[in-house]
Amino acid sequence: MAKRVLVSGGAGYIGSHVTVELINAGYEVVVADNMSNCDLTCFEGVKKITGKEDIPFEKMDCCDDAAVNALFSKYRIDAVIHFAAFKAVGESVAEPIKYYRNNLDSFLNILEAAKTHGGCNVLFSSSATVYGETDRLPVTEQSPRQPATSPYGNTKQICEDILRDVVKATASCDAMEPGTDRNGTVKGIALRYFNPIGAHPSALIGELPRGVPNNLVPFITQTAIGKRECLSIFGNDYPTPDGTCQRDYIDIVDLAKAHVAAVGRMLDGKMKESYEIFNVGTGRPVSVLELVNAFEKVNNLKLNYKFAPRRPGDVTAIWADPTLANRELGWKAGRSIEDTLAAAWAWEKHLAGK
Ligand code: WQD
Repeated sequence: MAKRVLVSGGAGYIGSHVTVELINAGYEVVVADNMSNCDLTCFEGVKKITGKEDIPFEKMDCCDDAAVNALFSKYRIDAVIHFAAFKAVGESVAEPIKYYRNNLDSFLNILEAAKTHGGCNVLFSSSATVYGETDRLPVTEQSPRQPATSPYGNTKQICEDILRDVVKATASCDAMEPGTDRNGTVKGIALRYFNPIGAHPSALIGELPRGVPNNLVPFITQTAIGKRECLSIFGNDYPTPDGTCQRDYIDIVDLAKAHVAAVGRMLDGKMKESYEIFNVGTGRPVSVLELVNAFEKVNNLKLNYKFAPRRPGDVTAIWADPTLANRELGWKAGRSIEDTLAAAWAWEKHLAGK
């Protein structure tokens, strides 16, 4: 019988790309989403890409513990990938209560239901933001976490610790037997993403930011298509080779495949510890200016941009040492930044009906 994976927040940017790769890998998938930060565009795109029209979709809020329990009673869930969370760094500074309430309650409900329905494997969507500002680069999973610079980043750190503690506490429960109505063990993996960018090569799913994009690549593609007047590059006076910030930009399909590898590790009993953390990045630093230049070159266009003051909260540079994920997950990022930026542009043109 095919193993079943619950993807909470599965109608969103990362969730929809992960759903495609899980289905392609032969898993049954249940998508749960409250649609607070997306519409059904990507979910419909997932069905077109996979040719699977009957993907169970549950419109629900993971902050509703009764709804989460009902979900775990309705389906035997072998693994959960938890994406359902708010993720706008700036908004989290303005509205901390909203962020702590939503991001923590939703994860606590998932973990409680995972435990009380026979146990479950839980994969948490964490972030490289937990490393904060550091000059010891690249960062490994042993690199120290820095005090979060936003409530958003703090919820990532807190949820990692919650998962770690629930895994430890349930080690004394009965062995994992998902779908039963008793307490079972919970095992956990936290994936620390660097900067997810790009879109599926089909141009049927991609990033759909609501309002003005916070993140670099959707702002670039919206500027190129004419939705935005001009890209502001926040700071060109950083201590980096070209003065602009450096990040580890990882292709969204590569990132999705890392999730399939991590789920496989859990379900195939290959974990070495009951709670594990992996950096999911390319290991290649790319500056804002290098990315802009690559976007112009691969898409044969000129982008309207200017240099602007630094954005508060930005770290100068961060990129991954992905050795552990490469070795233990048997996964490695493979797509070039040029292919990723070509796919991002194709998606933006698809949205514009071009
Ligand atoms: C990247 C670089 C900006 C926009 C955050 C979260 C991370 C993850 C991704 C949520 C920075 C510069 C950006 C613009 C610019 N979470 N930039 N002009 O801040 O590295 O990571 O988003 O999805 O957890 O921390 O990503 O894309 O916002 O910025 O110059 O209009 O691009 O200053 O140097 P960031 P980003």
